Amino acid sequence: MAQLSGSEPHALDRPWRTWASVVVLVILLSGVLLGVLIIPVVQGRGAGIDAFTAICRALGILPGSPAVPQIVDRTPPTPVSQVVWTPEVLRILADAKPERGRAKAQEVCVACHGEQGVSAVVEYPNLAGQSGAAIYKQLSDYRTGSRTNQLMTDIAKALDETTLADSREVVDLAEPLVAAVTDGAAPIRWHTRTRQGIAPTFDVEALDTTAAGDAFVGAWLQALVEQGLDATNAAGFFASAALAEPLRLAAAAGALATTRHGAFAAMPTRAQVEQLLGRGP
Ligand code: HEC
Repeated sequence: MAQLSGSEPHALDRPWRTWASVVVLVILLSGVLLGVLIIPVVQGRGAGIDAFTAICRALGILPGSPAVPQIVDRTPPTPVSQVVWTPEVLRILADAKPERGRAKAQEVCVACHGEQGVSAVVEYPNLAGQSGAAIYKQLSDYRTGSRTNQLMTDIAKALDETTLADSREVVDLAEPLVAAVTDGAAPIRWHTRTRQGIAPTFDVEALDTTAAGDAFVGAWLQALVEQGLDATNAAGFFASAALAEPLRLAAAAGALATTRHGAFAAMPTRAQVEQLLGRGP
């Protein structure tokens, strides 16, 4: 026993140690060969540098620039938008006069964006209701190339060179067709381009007003569509349509939405709205 534990394990160990050292050495050597000689020389040939330089670079002796100079793009970068809201720009926007742009808008823009800034074709965005600043920014972006479009880029570039005129030319188109201002239980004030008025609200016990605005707008749009509003007739519609009924439906929906907690959970059904209007079953 004493004999075995003393010498034989060592004797068994020895060949493994030798082989392990050989394997480690082989791995190390191939690493060095590949990393410092073969790969740098082969890749260096492709990149147009001689073997000696390639090996030196692999060893870190000639550090620095890549073998082939990279092409540097020196064109100035185009920012997303070059519009800056300086006090001067804001002052000119505030001074915009609808009359000044009417002729230009009638001459050029209405062909696509519609008589009153509401277009009949989905590809042409509505301008009605957009602020003068928003239109100014979009037109400036078309002019500078920050925004591009086959049709609009040329049109924007053809506008008066003073970019400030851009927004003036469309302020008239940008005037909203209709606006309704709600104020809790107080009457609703509404305006179209030619008419205005107030509409009553409903007396309910309000618990939570979270959903009131969404319910109001949802019912308002639904009622307007039921009354014949569509994308092609918006300007004419708001010039003459009776708005009392749509506002009544919207006010009822908004009022009911305040009688329950939550957002979606507070939305009334059509039947509940009709019931408040005295038309229910
Ligand atoms: C030939 C048809 C055509 C004409 C004419 C035209 N536009 Fe446009 N306009 C377009 C299209 C199409 C777009 C949407 C382009 C896009 O997706 O970028 C557009 C977009 C716009 C936008 C951006 C709207 C948005 O919601 O982002 C503005 C502002 C605008 N036009 C203003 C004008 C003004 C001002 C004129 C008259 C001087 C005019 N356009 C004339 C076709 C036209």
